[in-house]
Amino acid sequence: MRLSELQVRGFRVLREVSLALAPGLNLVVGPNAAGKTSLLEAVHVLARGRSFRTPSLDEAVRREASGLLVRGQVEEDGHREWLGLVRSGGVTEVRAGPARGRGASLLAGRLRVTVIHAGTVALVEGPPAERRQLVDWGVFHVEPGHLQAWRRYRRALRQYNALLRQGAAPRELRPWRLALAAAGEALDAARQRWLSRWQTVLGEVLTSLGPLPPLRVGCQRGWARGRGLADALEEAQAAERQLGFCRTGPHAMELRLTVDGQPARRVLSRGQQKLVALGMAVAAARVAAEMARPALLLVDDLPAELDPGRRIQAARLLADTGSQVIATAVEAGAFPMAFWPSARLFHVERGDVRPA
Ligand SMILES: Nc1ncnc2c1ncn2[C@@H]1O[C@H](COP(=O)(O)OP(=O)(O)O)[C@@H](O)[C@H]1O
Ligand SMILES: [Mg+2]
Repeated sequence: MRLSELQVRGFRVLREVSLALAPGLNLVVGPNAAGKTSLLEAVHVLARGRSFRTPSLDEAVRREASGLLVRGQVEEDGHREWLGLVRSGGVTEVRAGPARGRGASLLAGRLRVTVIHAGTVALVEGPPAERRQLVDWGVFHVEPGHLQAWRRYRRALRQYNALLRQGAAPRELRPWRLALAAAGEALDAARQRWLSRWQTVLGEVLTSLGPLPPLRVGCQRGWARGRGLADALEEAQAAERQLGFCRTGPHAMELRLTVDGQPARRVLSRGQQKLVALGMAVAAARVAAEMARPALLLVDDLPAELDPGRRIQAARLLADTGSQVIATAVEAGAFPMAFWPSARLFHVERGDVRPA
């Protein structure tokens, strides 16, 4: 998959941007506050309907502008499609080819991106939800039905929680519990398939980024080992009726990162945490490329995240995924471009992006 054209209007510092992108590396270079991260953020918004910097899209609307627009042409298997998103007056409208919709859900999965930025370290130091998201987007790249399965599960979970809160009788809870169990088991099975490959790839990636202390990744799927989810839910029901919500199932999955039995976030230095987080994201991108097809990689200021020696290793790993990359840097020389046969350089200054 490849993003061949990108247009951005009224997005933070970016006034009006129109770019033709290379299939390999696109390196965006410019001074601080020029609009580099904003450009990646705009692509992320087109891909996922939300920013990686802020929960509120309205914050990204350029001051004194009435709204923001992001459009992109996606090419896959000889098929081309324009995607578009407009945020204006607190409303999001999207287009995908001839289809139109309100809200971003129509865009889901059409442009698959993995982003690596200063916040990526949250994969190591952040709450379990950060890692769950990595896993579920990873699975989704490989099994597109995963997203729908999640939505169905969440609906059932909302119902079940509402009934628990109201103190509903066990016979009212039973059908929802069974629905949750069936959907939840399927979600977990998909995750485990993906995780077994991802863990192997992560080991390889970290070895080439190393040396690092031995990291262990353990998955607690969200309910007791060796037991069906239906049974686990039934067993937990009395306690969860007291609690008023359900904490048994794939929504409670945790990926535990440990070094010698201690949480990685407490043992590893800040630099090591950044490296592991980068490795986790790169491994996810590699699995996507291997099990399905390459995603688009957005890489914000790699030179700031890594020392020069590791930059070269990281760039090689990124290139090896065969993914299209949009990367940013303050200086072109700081980003190893040599691994890409097709590379294009762009300059950004005060919100204006142009081919170099
Ligand atoms: N909604 C907005 N409207 C206009 N400018 C904005 C908005 N949000 C942030 N900015 C400005 O954008 C600039 C930061 O852009 P950014 O993409 O982070 O730069 P870079 O990554 O190149 O350092 C800052 O000058 C900031 O004040
Ligand atoms: Mg930046």
